[in-house]
Amino acid sequence: MSGYEKPDHWTLKAKKEGYPARSVYKLAELQDKFGLLKAGMRVLDVGAAPGSWSLWVLRFLKGSGFLSAVDLQKLAISAPTPNFFFIQGDLYDPAVRAELAARGPYDLVLSDAAPSTTGNSTVDTGRSESIVEAVLDMADEFLAPGGAVVAKLFIGGGERELLDRMKAGYAAARGFKPKTCRSESFETYLVGTGKRRPAPRPAAP
Ligand SMILES: C[S@@+](CC[C@H](N)C(=O)[O-])C[C@H]1O[C@@H](n2cnc3c(N)ncnc32)[C@H](O)[C@@H]1O
Repeated sequence: MSGYEKPDHWTLKAKKEGYPARSVYKLAELQDKFGLLKAGMRVLDVGAAPGSWSLWVLRFLKGSGFLSAVDLQKLAISAPTPNFFFIQGDLYDPAVRAELAARGPYDLVLSDAAPSTTGNSTVDTGRSESIVEAVLDMADEFLAPGGAVVAKLFIGGGERELLDRMKAGYAAARGFKPKTCRSESFETYLVGTGKRRPAPRPAAP
C-alpha cells in the first residue's frame, strides 16, 4: 500500500463518525474559518458523492432549512429526510440544473466537485476550472443576494481569473486551503461571501 492510500487519522475519524469520506473535515474547517452555514439555510451541494458533506450539512441543519445535492455517482449515505433532495446527474446538464433551480434560491452553494484525473495537469486543472465556472454560473442563477459560494479548484493558471470574477460578484472572495487537505494535494477552495444584487436591467426605451 502506498503512503497516499494508507488510512490516516482523518480517514479513521470519518469512519468512526459515520462519514464515507475524510473530505468532511475540509468542510468543517471551512465552517470554522468562515462560519458559512447557519440553521434554517437552503444549501446546494455540488459533486456530493459519496455524501460526507451532505451528511454533515444535514446533521448541522437538524431538520431545518433544505439541502439539494447533485453528483454523477450515487450517494453512499442514507438520508431519508424531507429537507433533502438528491439528483444523480451531470452538473452541466440543463435538465439537472432546472431541478436544482426549482428548489432554490439557496443561501449557500458548496462544491467539492472534481473531475476524474488523467495525470495530465493541464487537462485536469482545465477541467477543474470549467467546473468552478459552471458552479459560479449556478450561483449567479440560484444563490440569493447576500449568499456565499465555496468551490474546489485544482490549482493551475486560472485561480486569479476565477477570483477576479468572484470579487466582482461578491463582497469578498479568497482562496483557502484546509489543513486536512493531503499535503501532496494541489487543490484549494475559492470562497465568495456576500453575493451582490445583480445590477438592475436598464429600462426599455
Ligand atoms: C471529491 S468528490 C466529492 C466528495 C464529497 N464532497 C463528500 O464529502 O463525500 C468529487 C465528486 O465530484 C463529482 N463530479 C465530478 N464531475 C461532476 C459533474 N460534471 N457533475 C456532477 N458531479 C461531478 C464526482 O462524481 C465526485 O463524486
